[in-house]
Amino acid sequence: MQEDHAADPSALTPVQLAVLQSVAPDWRHDPYRSYAVLREAGPFIPGPLGTRLVPGYHEANLIMQNPDWSHAEESELLHPDSDVELPGSFLWMEPPDHTRLRGLVSKAFTMRTIEGLRGRTEQVVADLFDKLLAEGGDHPVDILEALAYPLPLTMVCELLGVPAEAHDEVRQMSAGIARGLDPDVLLSPAELAARTAAVHRFRDFFGDLIAQRRKAPQDDLITRLVRAEADGATMSPTELLGTLLILVVAGHETTVNLIGNGVLALIRDPDQFALLKSNPDLAVAAADEVLRYDAPVHLTTRTARTEITVSDQVFAPGEAVIVLFGSANRDPRAFPEPDRFDITRYAAGNRANRHLSFGLGLHYCIGAPLARLEMEMALRAIATRVAAFDLPHDPPPYRPNLVVRGMSELLVRVTPEEPTR
Ligand code: HEM
Repeated sequence: MQEDHAADPSALTPVQLAVLQSVAPDWRHDPYRSYAVLREAGPFIPGPLGTRLVPGYHEANLIMQNPDWSHAEESELLHPDSDVELPGSFLWMEPPDHTRLRGLVSKAFTMRTIEGLRGRTEQVVADLFDKLLAEGGDHPVDILEALAYPLPLTMVCELLGVPAEAHDEVRQMSAGIARGLDPDVLLSPAELAARTAAVHRFRDFFGDLIAQRRKAPQDDLITRLVRAEADGATMSPTELLGTLLILVVAGHETTVNLIGNGVLALIRDPDQFALLKSNPDLAVAAADEVLRYDAPVHLTTRTARTEITVSDQVFAPGEAVIVLFGSANRDPRAFPEPDRFDITRYAAGNRANRHLSFGLGLHYCIGAPLARLEMEMALRAIATRVAAFDLPHDPPPYRPNLVVRGMSELLVRVTPEEPTR
């Protein structure tokens, strides 16, 4: 990727240019045009770091569903010179360790358990909207700060048992680690140092919290995991930290972008906004359409464990691919009018292909029910409490993050609905 940065764009073929643009920070606001070029060029495109890019839905599905493709080598591939070990999380493990650790947390994330958080989620959203609408008036409000960050941060921290006064600190650590998930070659020395500091801070902070829960158990997820760790046979101290790390980072940074992307899509498409307002129950289907239309996680990697053939292409053991979720979700062979934002696409009775934004197969997102619930409640509040939106700057600024892609700010003028009381 470093050579790519140095390349003279005029000397590149359209496909090479599209590869470059799909990773270049300047294009973060719209990677979709480059993705279309990649999909047209074929199922596998030579990518950075000796990988092949997978831009199409069909191949992405086949790869994600096949456990012969491993996720365990991602760190070696993207962070070869890392001076800090991200503690072991099951996102980057294979069975049997993956099965054992995922099993310990999966109970906390079943549809039923998460449904039990509906009332609390609604309350958090209502409080955030009270504040947001009171502060707004003629002034633009940063929707990311006012809604998209605090909602998932509050929910995941409460679930784990992080005290309210420490939520902001957790947010800072999480941001440093999320940027550090991108390939090391794309990170500046300052960002690499920030990742190291964030991981150290994470270890210290959660190490203390774990010690506290050992002494004084509470009714929270950390306590339940500490009990499993005390059992020794089921979870080691490093695995406990790794599990907390993935829950905090994956459970927070991603949903922030989902909410931000959803607000942006609705502002840009007043007809869809009007449709949601006329029928707030469409919030459930709209959440999935936002996930498809503007994926919060744009890519993942997989490495062939054995020789594998996909769409006539043979991959030798050790060969790696980068699966482009954001591109697969816009593949016209899988979704009619893929570039159209249509909040009824996933409405009951419509049989749209599933999107890949939560991944697929062994590592399918454990937090999908929670993310969907948070997004549904945010969209319901938007439908019922916002009369109009206005976006002073379009496109808004984006963070440089490649894997967990999203805006750095979303300034919006919000006109509240007149209270009906
Ligand atoms: C919009 C929000 C979210 C998106 C787009 C998202 C996306 C993803 C994706 C794409 C994967 C699979 C990665 C791969 O296979 O390489 C994944 C895995 C995971 N996600 Fe999420 N996620 C979201 C929210 C959450 C939440 C709220 C939590 C928990 C609080 C969570 C926890 C996890 C965990 C633990 C894994 C690893 C699962 C495994 O390896 O078995 N995610 N997520």
